[in-house]
Amino acid sequence: MKINEVLNIKYPILQGAMANISRAQLAGAVSEAGGLGMIATGGFSPEEVRTEIRKIKKMTDKPFGVNMVMIHPEIEELNKVLVEEEVKIITCGAGNPQKYFDYWLDNDLKVIPIIANKKMAQKVESLGATACVFEGAEAGGHIGKLNTFPALPEICDSVKIPVISAGGIYTARHILAAEILGASGVQMGTRFLVSEEVPVHENFKKLLIEASDRDTIVTGITTPHPIRCYKNKLAEKLLEIELNNLGEEEFEKYAAGSGKKAVIDGDVAWGSVMAGEGYEYLRKIESVKDIIENIMTDYQDLKENFKNS
Ligand SMILES: Cc1cc2nc3c(=O)[nH]c(=O)nc-3n(C[C@H](O)[C@H](O)[C@H](O)COP(=O)(O)O)c2cc1C
Repeated sequence: MKINEVLNIKYPILQGAMANISRAQLAGAVSEAGGLGMIATGGFSPEEVRTEIRKIKKMTDKPFGVNMVMIHPEIEELNKVLVEEEVKIITCGAGNPQKYFDYWLDNDLKVIPIIANKKMAQKVESLGATACVFEGAEAGGHIGKLNTFPALPEICDSVKIPVISAGGIYTARHILAAEILGASGVQMGTRFLVSEEVPVHENFKKLLIEASDRDTIVTGITTPHPIRCYKNKLAEKLLEIELNNLGEEEFEKYAAGSGKKAVIDGDVAWGSVMAGEGYEYLRKIESVKDIIENIMTDYQDLKENFKNS
């Protein structure tokens, strides 16, 4: 795996940005532990993002990134903040980033788009991306159509830039499997939702720790923006609205503001508990440092044994 060399980080692990959640507190802990911490912009104003960037710089002198959400209503302002605060690495997704590529490259940013298929990987490579994150539909939050296992090797073979595997990565075994399939690094989101540093409501963490592998569901299946989340009352209601064609207005009545409802208010029945498929790997709350160190120790052992087997 070589993304750590490209980004000047110790381990080939990126923390996936999480809307309303990944502020400096989590991202700084990940960067300090040797991964790449990522500050979200989803759910935050440009000034909040600026504050988080300043905070993370006080927490660590190691690299970190900012995640640009293309559908953010204040994207132009966010772009100014990136440059004014001298951010060096961004990931970008939730919409087409093409319009802003020249601006980012002219300002010496390393750009790592989140892509969902081979065509997108080739497109962002031609635009000058440093690397790309292929996110399989096992991931928590907004998802594409393809899954990690079948699509990753083909996507890795189709471009020269490093491909980072996201979606369903929780353990050393997942990382080694992603490496064998061609990935240069991994991005984990859900795994950090049960870290000490993640600022989500205790109800949210408890729910994930107690969940089983049957509790995952995808809502928004008839919309362009499907979301993988925990199967709670909200998710079942949203699916019922969709399957009965009750309309966008009825859908939005329940969906609007549901992220913050779960993350901040702790309403895990009627809030949106976005998380990936791997609940079985989330059995206790640990520090970010322990999560990363334990995974990387296991990874080194596993790799050694694998070579010798
Ligand atoms: C609660 C939550 C919120 C997320 N928000 C964002 C976001 O704002 N921007 C983004 O690019 N990805 C977002 N993601 C996706 C993650 O960055 C990451 O790619 C994904 O979690 C990886 O898959 P995993 O959940 O299986 O680890 C989110 C994921 C979760 C679980």
